[in-house]
Amino acid sequence: MFERLSSCHNFHDFRRLAQARLPGPIFNYIDGGADDEVTYRKNTESFERVDLLPNVLRGVDSVNMSVTVMGCKLDMPFYCSPTALQRLFHHKGERAVAAASAKFGTMFGVSSLGTVSLEELRRAHDTPQVYQFYFHKDRGLNRAMMQRAKEAGVDIMMLTVDSITGGNRERDLRTGFSIPFRLTLGGMAQFALKPMWGLNYVTHEPFRLPQLEEHVDMGRGAVSIGNYFTEMLDPSMNWKDVEEMVTLWDGQFCLKGVMSVDDARRAADIGCTGIVLSNHGGRQLDGSRTAFDQLGEIVDAVGDRIDVLMDGGVQRGTHVLKALAMGAKAVGIGRAYLYPLAAAGQAGVERALTLMRTEIERDMKLMGVRSVDELSRDHLRWPGAD
Ligand code: FNR
Ligand code: LAC
Repeated sequence: MFERLSSCHNFHDFRRLAQARLPGPIFNYIDGGADDEVTYRKNTESFERVDLLPNVLRGVDSVNMSVTVMGCKLDMPFYCSPTALQRLFHHKGERAVAAASAKFGTMFGVSSLGTVSLEELRRAHDTPQVYQFYFHKDRGLNRAMMQRAKEAGVDIMMLTVDSITGGNRERDLRTGFSIPFRLTLGGMAQFALKPMWGLNYVTHEPFRLPQLEEHVDMGRGAVSIGNYFTEMLDPSMNWKDVEEMVTLWDGQFCLKGVMSVDDARRAADIGCTGIVLSNHGGRQLDGSRTAFDQLGEIVDAVGDRIDVLMDGGVQRGTHVLKALAMGAKAVGIGRAYLYPLAAAGQAGVERALTLMRTEIERDMKLMGVRSVDELSRDHLRWPGAD
C-alpha cells in the first residue's frame, strides 16, 4: 500500500487508488454529482479558462502562504471542507483528516453527518475547527446542536444553505447507496470484491453519526442522503431564521453555498462574518455556475465587509492561486482530500496536503510573489478578453 501511496503525485493518482480500494457504491457516492454532472465537470474547467501572468526577478527565495480567515490564522491558504460519512471511506475517518489538518496548521470542517464527534476532535487538536450545520425541521434539535458546538469550542459555524432538498445523484440511485452501508445482496457482492475494505470496516468500531444520534434514530433501517435532506431538513429556512442563528451563535458565522451578489449582501447585512461560494462540488443544482467564475463579482460587492471563501473543483496549487488572486481569502477542498483518505487514511491525507502545499510554494516562486496578499487580478488574464 505504501509503495502505491508514494506513487501518488496528484489528484488523479489518489482517485484511482481510492477507486481500487472502495466498494463501488461508496466510491461513486464521493465521485458523483447531480443530474448530468455538468457543474461538477465545469468546476475544475473554470480554473483552466484563466491564465496566470507571472512576474520574474522578484527575488523570491522563500514564501509565506499563511492567511487569516474569520479570525483564524491558517498556515496554508486551503482547508478541508466539511464532508459527510468519512468513516465509510476509511476506518479512521474524520480522525485522520483532523490530525492531518492540525499537522499542517489548517482548518478542517466537521459535518452534521460526521462519523466522529465534534467534541472528540476539538479535544484532540488546537487547529481551527469548522462545524458544518444543516438546518433541521426540528428547531429544538437545531438549538441543541448549536449549544453543543458552542460548548465544545468550535471556532466557526458554517451553515450550508444549498441543500434544502437532496440533489439528484443518479449514481447513488443506481447503486442503492445508503447509510449505514447495508449488506444487501448487491452490497455483499461489493464487499466480496473489496475484501480489505470490508475487513477494515467490520473489525473497527461501528459506524456512528454522533452529531445526530442523540436526536434522531438513524440506526434502524438504512437512510439515504436524499431522504435525510428531504425528510429532516427544513426547506422553509429563510433569512430571518438565519439571522436568529447568527445572533444566538454570537461568533464567527458563515454561509456555505451562497452564489448571488444579492445573497452575499444579505449575509453581510445579518452579521455573517464569511461566505463560502460553492455549488457543493456539483452535487446539488446541476447547471449552476461555478464558484470560481462567480468569485470576482462577489468579492467586488462584499469583499470589504466579509471574508469570501470558495470551494469546488480545486485539484492543483495553481487553482488555489487563481482563486486567491481573484480575491478569495481561502479555498476549500473536498474530493482532493477524500480520495487520499480512502486511499491510505491519515498518511494519504498528509501526502495530499504536502503535495498541494509544495505546489503552492513552487507556484508562488514561479509567479514572483512572496506572500498571498501580493496576489492580485493583475496576475490573471482571460484569453480572448483583451
Ligand atoms: C460533500 N460536501 C458537503 N458539504 C456540506 O456542507 N456538508 C456535508 O456533509 C458534505 N458532504 C460531502 C460529502 C462528499 C462525499 C463530498 C464529495 C462533498 C461538499 C463539500 O464540503 C465541498 O463543498 C465540495 O466537496 C467541494 O468540491 P470538490 O473540492 O469536492 O470538488
Ligand atoms: C453530500 C452531503 C451529505 O453532498 O452534503 O453528500
